[in-house]
Amino acid sequence: MYNQKTIDYFSNPRNMGEISNATVVAEGGNLSCGDVVKLYLKVDKDIITDIKFKAFGCGACIATASALTELVKGKTLNEVDKISNGDVDKFLGGLPPQKLKCSNFSAEVLQKALKQLKK
Ligand code: FES
Repeated sequence: MYNQKTIDYFSNPRNMGEISNATVVAEGGNLSCGDVVKLYLKVDKDIITDIKFKAFGCGACIATASALTELVKGKTLNEVDKISNGDVDKFLGGLPPQKLKCSNFSAEVLQKALKQLKK
């Protein structure tokens, strides 16, 4: 069902935790199942120098949130503005079709965080 990379990101999530002095914190969930992801971003000028996540959800939820943090860390705000759920799915090598919905909301939480930063 899951490929090896997704299993690895679920079993050994990168960047899990929180940042006490985060520049911005955003949270969102998958309404269809109740799973929740919270992102903590540390931003210096326009670079995301650190990002961590906390998740309450399925394996795909945790793996995609972790994958998203890897895609975002060290990038500029402009670069991450283009990151979509499709990029997360591609990074992990493809989720099972029935789990694609699980990859959607981490990218949405990131967009929420970016909107808060622009305010
Ligand atoms: Fe809820 Fe995967 S089942 S995010």
